[in-house]
Parts: sequence; C-alpha cells; structure tokens
Amino acid sequence: MKDDRQRQTPYFTKLKEYGQSGVTPFDVPGHKLGRIKNDMMDYTGINTFLLDSNAPIGLDQLAKPLGVIKDAEKLAAYAFHADKAYFLVDGTSVGIMSMIMSSCRASEKIIVPRNVHKSVINGLILSGSTPIFVHPDIDSDLGIANGVPFQTMKKAIDVHPDAKAVFVINPTYFGMTSDLKKIVEYAHAHGMLVLVDEAHGTQFYFSDLLPISAMDAGADMSTTSMHKTGGSLTQSSILLTKGTWVDQIRLRTTINMLQTTSPSSLLIASMDVARKTLYFEGEERIKKLIHMSQKAREQIRTIPGIEVIDKKYVLSRGGNNFDETKLVIKVSELGVTGFEAYKELRRKFNIQLELAETHLILAILTIGTTKDDLDHLYNSLRDLSKRYYKIRKKVPKIKFNYQFPVTYSRPRDAYHAPKLQVLLEESANQISGEMIMIYPPGIPMVIPGEIISEEVLEDLQFYVKNGSVIHSEMDNGYVKVVDKDNWQKWEGEESEI
Ligand SMILES: Cc1ncc(COP(=O)(O)O)c(C=O)c1O
Repeated sequence: MKDDRQRQTPYFTKLKEYGQSGVTPFDVPGHKLGRIKNDMMDYTGINTFLLDSNAPIGLDQLAKPLGVIKDAEKLAAYAFHADKAYFLVDGTSVGIMSMIMSSCRASEKIIVPRNVHKSVINGLILSGSTPIFVHPDIDSDLGIANGVPFQTMKKAIDVHPDAKAVFVINPTYFGMTSDLKKIVEYAHAHGMLVLVDEAHGTQFYFSDLLPISAMDAGADMSTTSMHKTGGSLTQSSILLTKGTWVDQIRLRTTINMLQTTSPSSLLIASMDVARKTLYFEGEERIKKLIHMSQKAREQIRTIPGIEVIDKKYVLSRGGNNFDETKLVIKVSELGVTGFEAYKELRRKFNIQLELAETHLILAILTIGTTKDDLDHLYNSLRDLSKRYYKIRKKVPKIKFNYQFPVTYSRPRDAYHAPKLQVLLEESANQISGEMIMIYPPGIPMVIPGEIISEEVLEDLQFYVKNGSVIHSEMDNGYVKVVDKDNWQKWEGEESEI
C-alpha cells in the first residue's frame, strides 16, 4: 500500500506559487525572477528563472529547515526508509565529507576501502582522521576494483577495534557491492558507525530486485546522488541517517560548514518531485528497466568480440552482488580499447557513455532509459564489431596489479606539509603532497601521504597515452611532493602508517 502523503511536493508547490505571486523582489538572485532577459531564457523560457529563488519568506532555509524544506525532507526520509534526510545542493561529495567529519575527529581511525572517490580523501584531510585502508577485490580481466570482501573488513575491525567508523561503497561505479548487511552487523557489534557512499545507488531504495540499500542494511548514514540515477537535477543529493548513533547536531553543523549559503531552489525542488516519482513509479519502472537491461545483455552478448557483465559473472568470481542497471561492456577483444570505443560511439553514433576503462565501457541505465536507446547502442556496437573484430589485434591484457601505493602519513599531515615541485616522471619514491587521478572515475591513484611508486607512474603514463587527462594540482607536468627535510611529521602518528 502506497502512502498518499507522498503525493505532496511541499517545496516545489510553494516555490511555484512564489514565482507566480507577482512579488516585488528586492532580494537576490539579481535576475529578479527573470527580469533580465538573456539567451538562456530565450531557450528555457522564463519558468526556470521563476523557480530560482534564494530564501524568501515562506520558502524555508536549507541550513535550518523549519517549514516546507523540513516537510519535503521528511517525505524523502520516509521514501528512502531513513529516520532523517538532509537535502544537499553540492552533490554527494559534500555529504561524504560531512559524514566523515561528523563521525571522526583528528587522528581517530576510520576503515576505508582504498578505491574511494576523491571526496572521501578530502573528508580525511578535513577531519584529520587516520585512514585504515582496506583493499577491494580486483578483477584483473576487466581491469577494475570492486567491493571489499566481508573477511577483509572483519579483519580490519578486529585489528583496529578503536576505529570510530567503517566506510562502504554501495555500489561501485561499475555496480559491484560488498556484503553491507554483514559489515553493518559486525561494525555495530564493535561500536563503529557505518557510513555509506551511495552516489550510484539511489535506485536501490525503490526495488527489491536490486542489491540492498544502506538504510535497509541498517547503516547509520548514507549519501545518495539523486541526480545521478534518481532523476533530479545535477548536484542534488540526499544524506540519509538511521538510528540513534549519529550526532545530528554535529552533522548539521558540518553540512552547514561545507555547503553554500545560497542553495539552489531549482535543485531542492527537483529532489522533491523526483522523490515523488520514484516513490510511486520507481518499483514498476525499475522492474521494466531490469528486464530491458537483461534483454539488452542477451542481445549485445551475441555480437562477436563483445562481452557483457552480469550478475552470474560477478557471483561466479566471489563478488557479493551486482546492480543490473549498470551495463558494463567489454570491448577489448575487438581490438579497440574502452577509451577508443567511448570516443567512437560518440563521434559516429552520438552515444554518450558514462565512462571508459582500458577494456570496457560503462552505460548507466535509469528509468529514463528507453528500449530505443538500448537498440541504438546494440546496433552501434554491432557496427564496431563488423569493422574491427578479427581485423584488429586484441588489446593486450594490461598488467593490472592495482597495488595501491604505500601509506606513509595521514592525508592531512601531508596536505599541510611543506612541498616541493618535481616533474611527475621524476617523482617516484617521494611522498605525494596531493591527489593525482583520472576523471572520471575520480578515484585517486595517489593521495597525500602515499609514496608515489614506479607502478603508479607507469599506469598514469598509460592513461595519458590513451587520451585521459591527469587531474593534479598543477597543469605543467609537475606534482607536489612533501619536502621531507623541512617537515616535522606529526608526533601522534600511528606507527603502522
Ligand atoms: C563513487 C562516487 N562517490 C561519490 C561521488 C560524488 O558524487 P557527486 O558528484 O554527487 O558529488 C561520485 C561521483 O562521481 C562517485 O562516483
């Protein structure tokens, strides 16, 4: 039985009324509800601007919701099986940093998979907490890092019973999950909070056919990018909490510390309405989507030289579960890298994929994906196969050891340390003073405080050769490393890191 209260969209409704009320605006934003005409307004129409307000009387305040935002957040909490929901307008990144900063003080330990998004590393720098890195399962055929096995998490919890929190990704960019329920039970039995990155998992809350969501698994906090797979506008995310272990005051203070004081009303309203759609239509539409994705897999699998990952593949390799709304397609047997296929599908067929890796491409499916879209992808892949399969040599299996670099200090210590600039190719064996990564996926290959290894430099060169852009602090081929001779490493540092 659906709850009829979910038909309400308290924030969106009030925002619409406000834009149409004929108010005389002496507040910001300065476009004054669309009175400054411009090219964008010609294109979108005035309604976009009528919905763009700051915090006029009656529209509540995101930093301290007492009215319509509070009501909308309550509806979201219910729809997402949480006790409390916080709307965010700076993406899941801000939610992740808030979860970490409000759970761990400087030097307190947090157990973290190493293949996390950069926002987790930023959360470690800002909080000053000490990461205990755990290593994910590696699929060396696909060249990707997956979930962290329960036994690995258990061992980290056993060895570090003083850790304050455990961090879990649910799911990874490629749709792989860890045994979240078991991790939650074990972490809770040891008094640790469980914080979850559900940037790619909004859909889990609306279908039993998908892996378990963080709130259903009993996690304390999770942040989900409504904008990625939930249908709201880009940057809008929700932080969810459950149970009594979360210090809500500290969490609110932290969110307010990190988030803009001018939250976009368009983003907030877009979450309010997307939540309603997901609540009433999500289950049925996700069921159809999964069916469509299975059919698409069957079809694509028949194309010579192409493989598609499915649940069976993941389970047979000891993985926990797989989000079937992710279409992970291996193209390297065709003789093209994922990077080449990614570019060619856009250039020749106007298909925009989410990302590419050496062997594969990733298509993200949501309830907005149509059968025609999937047919177009199938036909385009068939074209690639006809032109390349057995004509080109297979892409050689890369050495994918994914030896994450050795940790030398807390990320925060290295962040504040005096730095030297050295050429990237001459930085081997130095302590990195910054994050170095490819975007997407935005998983840092080196973080502040890690020793830059020869292997990482080789991997970076490989990515550059394949047209990826290295994200680092400087654009001139140099990287920042710690000036060890002039650095006083913090004395409270744990000996094992
Ligand atoms: C695994 C993962 N976590 C967190 C984020 C951050 O999410 P957002 O872009 O909503 O800030 C991303 C973004 O790509 C991600 O891939």
